[in-house]
Amino acid sequence: MDQISKQKQIASLIEEINFHNYQYYVLDSPLISDAEYDNLFRQLASIEKSNPNFVLPYSPTQRVGHPVSGTLSSHPHEYPMLSLENAINENELIEFFNRMKKISKSDTIEYVVEPKIDGMGVALIYINGTLKKALTRGDGYQGEDITHNIKTINSIPLKLLKKSPEKVEIRGEIFMTKKSFEDLNNHNHKTGDKIFSNPRNAAAGSVRQLDPKVTAKRKLSFYAYEYTNPDEESITNHWDMLNQIKLWGMPTNPFTIKSSEETVIIKKHQEMEKIRSSIDYEIDGTVIKVNSASLRKKIGFRSRSPRWAIAAKFESQKVDSQVLEIVLQVGRTGVITPVAKISPVFISGARIQSVTLHNQDEIDRKEIYIKDYVVVERSGDVIPKIVSVIKSRRPVNASKFSLHGASCPSCNSQIKRKEDEAVYRCLNANCKDQIKSRIEHFVSKKALNIEGLGPQIIDQLIMQKIIYSYADIFKINEKALIALERFGEKSSENLVGSIETAKKTEFSRVLYGLGVPNVGEHIAKIIENHVNGSFETLRQETVETLSEIEGVGEIVAQSIVEYFNNEINWSLIQKCFENGLQVIRTEPKKGLLLGKTFVVTGTLNNFSRVEAKEILEKNGANVVSSVSSKVFGVIVGDNPGSKLGKANKLELKIYDESFIQNLI
Ligand code: IVH
Repeated sequence: MDQISKQKQIASLIEEINFHNYQYYVLDSPLISDAEYDNLFRQLASIEKSNPNFVLPYSPTQRVGHPVSGTLSSHPHEYPMLSLENAINENELIEFFNRMKKISKSDTIEYVVEPKIDGMGVALIYINGTLKKALTRGDGYQGEDITHNIKTINSIPLKLLKKSPEKVEIRGEIFMTKKSFEDLNNHNHKTGDKIFSNPRNAAAGSVRQLDPKVTAKRKLSFYAYEYTNPDEESITNHWDMLNQIKLWGMPTNPFTIKSSEETVIIKKHQEMEKIRSSIDYEIDGTVIKVNSASLRKKIGFRSRSPRWAIAAKFESQKVDSQVLEIVLQVGRTGVITPVAKISPVFISGARIQSVTLHNQDEIDRKEIYIKDYVVVERSGDVIPKIVSVIKSRRPVNASKFSLHGASCPSCNSQIKRKEDEAVYRCLNANCKDQIKSRIEHFVSKKALNIEGLGPQIIDQLIMQKIIYSYADIFKINEKALIALERFGEKSSENLVGSIETAKKTEFSRVLYGLGVPNVGEHIAKIIENHVNGSFETLRQETVETLSEIEGVGEIVAQSIVEYFNNEINWSLIQKCFENGLQVIRTEPKKGLLLGKTFVVTGTLNNFSRVEAKEILEKNGANVVSSVSSKVFGVIVGDNPGSKLGKANKLELKIYDESFIQNLI
């Protein structure tokens, strides 16, 4: 065969494969079997292999490219990627309809209703029909370049099927189906890799990989919901735009409807809520958008969201389950927590089989018996809880549960409840589980941050009598480690290296790591400044002197004084220093935001909350968790919840993620 016909053959195979992609992903009606499809793909790959000069950049064989080095690069969005305002109940949705009618001065407005997929927004830029760049939402103004990973997603065309404008940007949601999420976690469980808490995190983690080979294995999906091309005259509404997107070979959500009847829209929302659990991907509401492009222009935008659309959220998911048993857990301060083991259920993408019951009062208030059928709820990422008992289904053999007279699950000593406390505690200072959790806390990220010293190793070290308390960590040597199961020369060396590094630690990290009740990282930093990084000075303090410090209340002061006056605690702290710990002082705070207090709320796209907090603090800010008039500004991410409302009421300054970006 001559060269020209080879080229033609390649082009026609690509066209054929793209056509079948369209049938499969857009129309959901495949015309050929998977085996036939694979066969076409193999034919193409084989011709390309013997004719490498003819390989087209948009060939389906080019989906998995080379890893990017370093970090993902940032790019500005041509048009900001906005977020959506939420309506959390029907009233707020009706208020939205009324607002739209008022602004547009019209009684009938056509809307499009789409499921709100709980995934990750992405912008796809096509130049002359070919996918050139894919960006994450980022802070809405600047996103990360994830082109190499987006190309691996089979439902996203590398080349648009029909003629398209010279440049077009299509936006939509990347997500992982519940099934793929489960398969991924099962696989990772076996290989000891990262377990994701929900499909959204798994999708976000997958598209932010440096190596597209990893992303390609993750089975991601995509639905488009808008395109930005302001010069386009022929498309005058959202519905037609979605149809245009489909013709280009992009999947759009099949549950989408168009209607001018508010009752029909509300019904659609309710229907989606009803079938939510049977859909193979997570949705957390519906998005209701004004259809007409000219009307949208008239209605306009807020700073971070369009006024012409709203996300109507579903109520948090509730699922029935049964309490199989109630077990006790002991924490590092000896607090005993009752935990209900329930028959496993899936809520918002996560498998739930343990639910904390907090304390006896909570069990009594909700009248939870062992073997009771219960309603379990989990909203978003929040910890699951038992909402209520289904008393009508209480089995005859259901039995009451009481912590009274129970003993510690770890050391078996009797647990006690102080008169003024809601919790029972194990008072045995040598209780193994308490020691273990204290050590785990001491070495955790925000404390001494000793990498490689996980719970299983701590357990081994205690069992082998290599350590008896956190103070012994500084004495661990390679010889002792090599004798342990699963420890080699290299891993022993690494761990001893991490311990050596941790011997020089900031005062606030050590103080936080000790686990003094009521002393979190924030208080630890305040105390560090007050006592100038000296534990000796801290020991001299009294409840009165400590309570005088801005930000330290009497309860915290009391708890610190009690802790440092306890001889056992003090001798352990001294032992840490004898074993090589040195406290280093960080520079007293300075920076742009000195003296200003901030709250971070909602999901940020480029930073975890901990990272955002660190950046703010580096610039001198105080970061707290609740909104009050003492707060200067609130950094708002996606789904901010009630804190944003409160901040608006108090007329605080509101910033988005770009504020953090600008600080770095
Ligand atoms: S439209 C200008 N439609 O929800 C409006 N967003 O909270 C831009 N999302 O960042 C978004 N499904 O990632 C739109 N059908 C849908 C959606 C959707 C999920 C996400 C999107 C956005 C977030 C807003």
